[in-house]
Amino acid sequence: MRERSFWFALFLGLMAMALTACGGGGTDPAVAGNGNTAPTPPEGPDPDPDPQPSALDTQLLAALQGRNVDTPAAPPTPATALVDLGRALFFDKLLSGNRNMACATCHHPTTGSGDDLSVSIGQGGSGLGSARVLANGVLIPRNAPPLFNKGLPSFDQMFWDSRVRRNANGSLVTPEPALNGNNPTASDIASLLDTALAAQSIFPLTSPAEMRGDPGENELADASTNLEVWEALMARLVGTNNGTEGGVSAYRTLFQAAFPGVVDFDAFNIGHVGRALGAYEDLTFRALNSPFDQWLGGDRTAMTDAAKRGAVLFYGRADCFRCHEGPLQTDNRHHAIAVPQVGPGREANGDDLGRFEQTGDPDDVYQFRTPSLRNVELTGPWMHDGAYTSLANAVRHYDNPVRSLQNYNTGQLSALMQPLVDTDATRNQARADALSGVLRPAPNLRGNDVADLVAFLEALTDDASRSMAGEVPASVPSGLPVGE
Ligand code: HEC
Ligand code: HEC
Repeated sequence: MRERSFWFALFLGLMAMALTACGGGGTDPAVAGNGNTAPTPPEGPDPDPDPQPSALDTQLLAALQGRNVDTPAAPPTPATALVDLGRALFFDKLLSGNRNMACATCHHPTTGSGDDLSVSIGQGGSGLGSARVLANGVLIPRNAPPLFNKGLPSFDQMFWDSRVRRNANGSLVTPEPALNGNNPTASDIASLLDTALAAQSIFPLTSPAEMRGDPGENELADASTNLEVWEALMARLVGTNNGTEGGVSAYRTLFQAAFPGVVDFDAFNIGHVGRALGAYEDLTFRALNSPFDQWLGGDRTAMTDAAKRGAVLFYGRADCFRCHEGPLQTDNRHHAIAVPQVGPGREANGDDLGRFEQTGDPDDVYQFRTPSLRNVELTGPWMHDGAYTSLANAVRHYDNPVRSLQNYNTGQLSALMQPLVDTDATRNQARADALSGVLRPAPNLRGNDVADLVAFLEALTDDASRSMAGEVPASVPSGLPVGE
C-alpha cells in the first residue's frame, strides 16, 4: 500500500511539472505562485498561436481535394443609380396591385432575406416576418427562398422548380412565352433582363396571391395578360404620355438616373424594373466572407473544431457534397429527398410535385432544386415548404429520409401550419419511392455527427448578413409605409 501511494505521488508530481513546462508556466505570473492571487492577463499576442495546421486541418484539406470549393469571385459592382432605383422598388408596396405588399414583405433583410415562415403569407395578410399574420389572407404554396448570392452567374435558374431560367446565350425560359427563346416577341423587355435574378423579379408582380391581387380589386389584377399587368405598373411608376399623366415624379428621376440613355418616359418598360431589382438584390445580398471562406483563405483559426469535423463529414462520409457541391454548396440540379409536404401545396389535393410540374417527366416527380447552403443558419424554416423549423432537424432528416418522412414531428410547426401536413399514406409512399439514389443507402449519422454538421453549416454564415437592418430605407417614393 505505502509503496503504491509513493509511486502515485511521484507520478502526480511529474505530471504537474510536465504540465507547467508545456504551458510555459515558468514565466506566466498566473502560474508562478508569487503570492499575488489575482491573475494578470498575459500581454501581447496569444501565447499559443499554433501556426501549424492541426491534424483536423490536415484531414479537412485532404477531404477538400478535388471538391472545387474555393470562394467564388464577386461579380462586378452594378452602377449606384441602378441599385438606388432597385432599392426603392424592392421596398415599395406600390408594386403590388392593392398597394399592400413589397418584395421585402417576404424577402426582408432582417429575416435572412426570407420571412421566417414555413410558407409565405400573401395577399390579405398583415405584418412582417414571423410576426406576419394570415388574417383573411392567402397562404403561398412554398417557402420564400433566400436571395443570398443569387446574382452570381452560376445561379441561372430561379424558383424551387427552376421555372425561370436564363441560358448562357441570354435567351430566357419563363412562364411568359413572349419573353422566351432566341427571338422573343417582347424583345424590348427580354433584352434588358441580364440575369436570371432580373428575369425572376417581374413574375411575383403577375401572381394574384403574391402581389397582383384578385380581379375587381385593382387595375393590375384586372389586366388580362402579363404584358398588360406590367404596362399598368409602369403607368403607376413613371406615368403615361411621356410622364405627363400620373406616375410618381421621384420614380421618373430615379429611372432617368439609372438609364440615362432613355429619353422618352414611355420607353421605360418592366425590363428596366427587373434589371434594377436584379442589380439591387445582387449587390445587397452578397455573402462570401464566412468563417469557411476565411479558413479556405488560410486562417486555420476561423473555424471551430466541431465545424471542421462537420466539414470533413460533409465532404466525405456523409456525402452531402454530391448534391451540395462546388463553391456555393449546390449543383443547381433537382433531387427528391423525401421531404414531408406542408402547407396548401400547388396541387388541388395539397401536393407539390416540384420539378415534374415544369417538365412532365415522371423521373422529376418530387424533385426540388438543391438549395445553396451559404447563410443557411439565417434562412429557416428549411426545405421547399419549411417543413423543418430547426437546422438540426433538417440535417437529421438525412440520417434516414424515409423514416424522417414517416415519423415527421408536426409539433415543430406553427399552429397555423400544423393542420396542413399531408399525411396521405399513398402520397408519402410515392415521396419515399422517389428518393434519390444518392441517398440510398442514406449516410449513417451517429454520435456527434448531426451537431458537427450543424456547426459546419453555421460556419457558412457571413457575419455581415446577421444584421442588415441598415438596408431598410426610411421611406420609398410612393410614400407608402415601409416598416410594416
Ligand atoms: C408573398 C410573398 C412573396 C413576395 C411578395 C415576393 N416573393 Fe419572391 N418568392 C416567394 C416564394 C414563396 C418563392 C418561391 C416560389 C416557388 O419556388 O415556387 C419566391 C421566390 C423568389 C426568388 C427565387 C429565388 C431562388 O433561389 O430560386 C427570387 C429571386 C425572389 N422570389 C425575389 C422576389 C422579388 C424581387 C419580389 C418583388 C418583385 C418578390 N420576390 C416578391 C415569396 C414572395
Ligand atoms: C441527393 C441530393 C442531396 C444530398 C446527398 C444532400 N442534399 Fe441537402 N438538399 C437537397 C435538396 C434537393 C434539398 C431541398 C429539398 C426540398 O426542399 O424538398 C436540400 C435541402 C437541404 C437543406 C435545407 C436548405 C434550405 O435552404 O432549406 C439543408 C440544411 C441540407 N440540405 C443539408 C444537407 C446535408 C447536411 C447533407 C449531407 C448529410 C445533404 N444536405 C445531402 C439535396 C441533397
